[in-house]
Amino acid sequence: MDFELKSLSAEQAAALTADALLVLVPEAAHAAAAQGALASLVDQAVASGDLETAVGKSLSCYRVAGIQSARVVLVGAGDGSPVAVRKAVAAGMGLLKQPGVKKLVLWLGGISLEPGCVSAAVQACAEASYVYTTTKPSAKARAVAQVVVGVPQAKAVQVAFDAGVATVAGVEFAKEWANRPANHATPSLLADAARKLARKSPIKTEVLGPKDVEALGMGAFMAVAQGSVEPLRFIVMRYNGGEKGSAPVVLVGKGITFDTGGISIKPAAEMDEMKFDMGGAASVLGTFAALAHLQPSINVVGLIPACENMPDGQAIKPGDVVTSMSGQTIEILNTDAEGRLILCDALTYAARFKPRSVIDIATLTGACVIALGGVRSGLFSTRDDLAAALQQAGDRALDPCWRLPLDEEYGEGLKSNFADMGNVAGRPGGAITAAKFLQKFTADLPWAHLDIAGTAWKGGMAKGSTGRPVPLLLQYILEEAARSATAEPVVTPKAAARRTRKA
Ligand code: BES
Ligand code: MN
Ligand code: ZN
Repeated sequence: MDFELKSLSAEQAAALTADALLVLVPEAAHAAAAQGALASLVDQAVASGDLETAVGKSLSCYRVAGIQSARVVLVGAGDGSPVAVRKAVAAGMGLLKQPGVKKLVLWLGGISLEPGCVSAAVQACAEASYVYTTTKPSAKARAVAQVVVGVPQAKAVQVAFDAGVATVAGVEFAKEWANRPANHATPSLLADAARKLARKSPIKTEVLGPKDVEALGMGAFMAVAQGSVEPLRFIVMRYNGGEKGSAPVVLVGKGITFDTGGISIKPAAEMDEMKFDMGGAASVLGTFAALAHLQPSINVVGLIPACENMPDGQAIKPGDVVTSMSGQTIEILNTDAEGRLILCDALTYAARFKPRSVIDIATLTGACVIALGGVRSGLFSTRDDLAAALQQAGDRALDPCWRLPLDEEYGEGLKSNFADMGNVAGRPGGAITAAKFLQKFTADLPWAHLDIAGTAWKGGMAKGSTGRPVPLLLQYILEEAARSATAEPVVTPKAAARRTRKA
């Protein structure tokens, strides 16, 4: 999808030749007495009551005199906030699903653009027209190929627009990989995708296989992979946009390309949805795709432990004890609690980058779906500043999360008579006890964990990946880049090391 930002008055928007013109009309817009066909159409539609300005209310018009685009859709945009803009664009796009609509003008001229509105509009446009075709070539590819976003002053919103376009690239990359069925998204194929991203400088990808992982002592990760004939992959990506030696943000994505539960096998109903269990990995890949577009000045590392969780003659059995890379032993009481087993070794590995922050992203627990549903991702962190930064980034990016606690008492249930810990506690507080397990591998790293089990995909008729939390992650990284640009212009390797040691 090709987006273009232009400064357009109402008259200029009406004069552009396109297949459709989508106009957002907020509550306050009709007060301004503007001239021309489009302005008078909006004025009359609102005055007559045929167009309500409440979010999502709409009026479709055809071949309006003085307007070049044959189809004109006016949509109420309520208070004109980013959330309202997103809903309004989604509603408008829903009315323009005809195959004939290839070029679209989206006119935001009536909106007083607060930061986030342009990005929300761009993302909603892409969201509404996204079509998965990889294993369904018969599906009609997206019709809308070109969108001109018209605003009063392009310069004023250029940065937000660029971020929105990059977010779309990242979200769509994540959706593509998460939507693919497990036989089209094996650990090896994920690694290939990561390698392809590295063709775009300044990204570098390194892929470790079973022997490398064994040499590193990742006994917990290997234990999960041993029940599958698909070989595991440990993907290491680096985006070096920042100063050499400046401490990176490390993203760790759960890459279970299919989760049967293993010997603690899952029930058959909806098991197909466990192809989405690499949603965390997909969000890391997507974030890197977005970084390649935007090229902000910051260093980012992406780590993806990828494997299948299968039952097999070689598979781990409940009660098996394995030794993690950290040296801590784990009694695997439930082979379906596999995400934490692959993540714990990746978190131990993350420490070598002396990161400014480590964020793991995982479709980790059904309990998180029960706690927060599909609206907010679960957020856990041992650092208040990091938690606040992530929560704020999520709110700004309209990809929200909610912090849950990590009190010591929640870790009680992980005690084991046969190892340093078990991999599960009881059912109560399941999202939290999973996070408590991960915390044991973060030593004093500035760490946060996002449980995206409820937000990474939708079930039912609209089954499919959401691409979340790419918007949150990208927003956090951009804000982090801005923070370090103002706070510490020159970061020497020594200073970076000192800072992380102190933190
Ligand atoms: N991938 C699942 C979590 C999941 C379940 C995500 C349902 C989305 C929907 C994870 O590996 C898992 O199976 N977790 C178990 C943990 C339990 C055995 C402690 C769960 O949540 O049931
Ligand atoms: Mn599982
Ligand atoms: Zn899983």
